[in-house]
Amino acid sequence: MKVAVIGAGTMGSGIAQTCALAGHDVTLVDVAPGALERAQRSMRSSLDRMVRRETITAEEGEEAVAHVGTRDAIAGLHDAGVVIEAVFESVEVKRGVWGALQSATSEGALLATNTSSLSVTEIAAASGRPERFCGLHFFNPVPMMALVEVVRGLRSSDETVEQARAFAEGIGKTPIVCADKPGFIVNRLLIPYINDAVHALSEGVATAEDIDRAMKLGANMPIGPLALVDLVGLDVGLAAAEALHGEFGDPKFRPAPLMKQMVRAGLLGRKSGEGFFRYG
Ligand SMILES: NC(=O)c1ccc[n+]([C@@H]2O[C@H](COP(=O)([O-])OP(=O)(O)OC[C@H]3O[C@@H](n4cnc5c(N)ncnc54)[C@H](O)[C@@H]3O)[C@@H](O)[C@H]2O)c1
Repeated sequence: MKVAVIGAGTMGSGIAQTCALAGHDVTLVDVAPGALERAQRSMRSSLDRMVRRETITAEEGEEAVAHVGTRDAIAGLHDAGVVIEAVFESVEVKRGVWGALQSATSEGALLATNTSSLSVTEIAAASGRPERFCGLHFFNPVPMMALVEVVRGLRSSDETVEQARAFAEGIGKTPIVCADKPGFIVNRLLIPYINDAVHALSEGVATAEDIDRAMKLGANMPIGPLALVDLVGLDVGLAAAEALHGEFGDPKFRPAPLMKQMVRAGLLGRKSGEGFFRYG
């Protein structure tokens, strides 16, 4: 199978690597100068890590690298049976990319977006082939995370959803089919949980350390909610909370004012050196 992956950032490079390891020929496309080289370096170091951990052999790593070709423009992707888009999380950018993909891909190809928070149905409309379109929502880091949410858009056909499910399974992931509702399954549940932890902190329920310790010791969570949002980035968490609040209009999704203030102050978590906790 030939797979085209559009966008060679964090997710696109992980998706390309995972497809290549499963034996597919991948064309990775990006238009930003340096993006393809960065993606190749990141795939190489991720594969080396997998070899060191003996998850794969050195030969399998080399074969995967050889399976990934690159292209710096959206053109000539007619041999791809599956097209996965992982460009910036902007509906305008995604619309533009899917407009260009209409003439660059074949009628029969399976079309998918990796969006986390936008409407799959809306992006599908820009593809011109909404019945062949669905969401394939991978998780970060792609090579490590088992889940792929297969998102059924309003006009996705049953055959498309089934093909997407089988494709995800074929590259070693566990697909779970869900409807095109904001947050799908994981973020719909996880973002309000994180947001509530921030509300609890600002209401003085306990310190940040104790809120996280409580969830680890009392609910067996592998990481506390505040350390988790520090890892994800408070700006990313806030944008997700705002998207859920905006789409549902339900006050239960109201972003915690403290999270907004911290983002305004530049306290974004690990990436800025400080969030709810400090990082060396
Ligand atoms: N980062 C995560 O944890 C995560 C998890 C799940 C889903 N997602 C989703 O995956 C998608 C990509 O996220 P990311 O974190 O990899 O972003 P990123 O910023 O790391 O990468 C996006 C890439 O898209 C490229 N791009 C932009 N416009 C393009 C165009 N017109 N043609 C080709 N390439 C173009 C950029 O140059 C960049 O390399 C988003 O929809 C995001 O919501 C992200």
